[in-house]
Amino acid sequence: MYKKSFNLKPNPLPTMPTYHILTFGCQMNVNDSIWLGQALEAHNFSQAPLAEADVICINTCSVREKPEQKVINTIYRIKQLTLANPKTLVGVLGCVAQQLGEKLFHYTNQVRLVAGPDALAMLPKTIEQLLENPSQRLSLLDFTSTYLEREPGKATKIGPTAYVNIMQGCDNFCTYCIVPYTRGRQKSRPKDAILKECREKIALGARELTLLGQNVNAYGQDKAGDGTRFAQLLHAIADLPGLERIRYTSPHPKDMGVEDVAAFAKIPKLCPCLHLPLQSGSTRILKRMGRGYTREEYSKLVDDLKTTLPAISLTTDIIVGFPGEDDQDLLDTLTMMEYCAYHASFSFCYSDRPGCRAVNFLDKIDRAVQHSRLEEVQHTQDILTTKWLKARVGQTTTILLEEKSPRQPEGSVSWQGRDPYGTIVHLNLPANEDYRGKMLEVTITDFGKHCLHAQQKSSLW
Ligand code: SAH
Ligand code: SF4
Ligand code: F3S
Repeated sequence: MYKKSFNLKPNPLPTMPTYHILTFGCQMNVNDSIWLGQALEAHNFSQAPLAEADVICINTCSVREKPEQKVINTIYRIKQLTLANPKTLVGVLGCVAQQLGEKLFHYTNQVRLVAGPDALAMLPKTIEQLLENPSQRLSLLDFTSTYLEREPGKATKIGPTAYVNIMQGCDNFCTYCIVPYTRGRQKSRPKDAILKECREKIALGARELTLLGQNVNAYGQDKAGDGTRFAQLLHAIADLPGLERIRYTSPHPKDMGVEDVAAFAKIPKLCPCLHLPLQSGSTRILKRMGRGYTREEYSKLVDDLKTTLPAISLTTDIIVGFPGEDDQDLLDTLTMMEYCAYHASFSFCYSDRPGCRAVNFLDKIDRAVQHSRLEEVQHTQDILTTKWLKARVGQTTTILLEEKSPRQPEGSVSWQGRDPYGTIVHLNLPANEDYRGKMLEVTITDFGKHCLHAQQKSSLW
């Protein structure tokens, strides 16, 4: 902890301080930012545009290339945008904060808070303290050994979909990945606390919950766990009245057990789709990545999932240009993509992350080669996505409506929601009603690049 204070007489807090949060990175960061906003509101803060806010928090991600530069650019951009208000308090939070620590104080005087992911629960009080003490700077970079519960935020009505954290950190140390160093070791959250938050979110309007963690299948398997296994947790959440859909991310292929696979057949609320990170289709590269499974084990898992629930569809993450990857390894990835028929994927060029083992692998792949491999992967994905969307035309599905579509047709109103696979579906509905959170059955009539169009089939519920 870094503390520096010249001002012994605290300033009173502004009567209604304002905040603005900028978020980069994964769903865990998105969820952390949502909580922080609600918690600040419970402390009487209100949201404001960036240039006018008393406090600006940047919630950062360091998983891929040059994230430090992005954060530093953001710090300077804030300085420019707040010239009229140089006293703005800037907090750098999340994974880059954990990684760079107090170095971040050197960029501008406005940066007076640096806090890693494990410090999140302490932020509302820390921010108040810093507003009262304008010459103080604080860094909160210690890892905790258990999952710290967060105070309740302001209870406002929420959208129909919400996230719930079930754990923090990761113990896998894949050789390319910085997450275990930024989020710390795995800490499972007790089942009762998770169920309590699920109930609260359902009461506030959520009909679909996505459970979050870096390796959800290993839930409960760490020292902080209360003995509950992931599949048991899924069953307990599925029993909550008022909940329509459950999703989770990310599972790890090596930890996905028989019970987790069976849950897809046993729990009707569990959506028939799974984001199952492959990273590479080559056993040789998977071994160097430290992933803990082979190409054959991954395909066997996919076979088991498809036997358990034939309607299941998968999405994935892929890294190309990992050190030592050759043309045959890339071909192995492309053929795996086809075998698994992913309906969507996120693909990235490998980049060195400080402190990770792969930094020391000498056979790095040329940048241009990485880019051409990325194009091949993305081209293969485009074909698979189009094939999947096209095959869905004529099918009946269920949608959970979320908001009006960004593009409105003339003469009617288009709403968008998601089907059980997470694909965006647009459909025209009678005007003048708020359909947010309503569900209905539809027939798919057409497809776009990444979305579907549909017609109403049943009445809303
Ligand atoms: N816990 C998840 C993913 C976390 S990071 C899992 O195990 O799959 C999100 C994604 O970023 C990873 O799946 C990986 O595809 C990508 N990624 C992580 N480190 C990377 C690196 N050094 N270079 C390129 N991509 C990386
Ligand atoms: Fe990173 Fe691997 Fe953990 Fe995922 S499982 S967060 S890729 S170390
Ligand atoms: Fe990024 Fe941290 Fe998430 S590095 S991907 S914000 S866990």
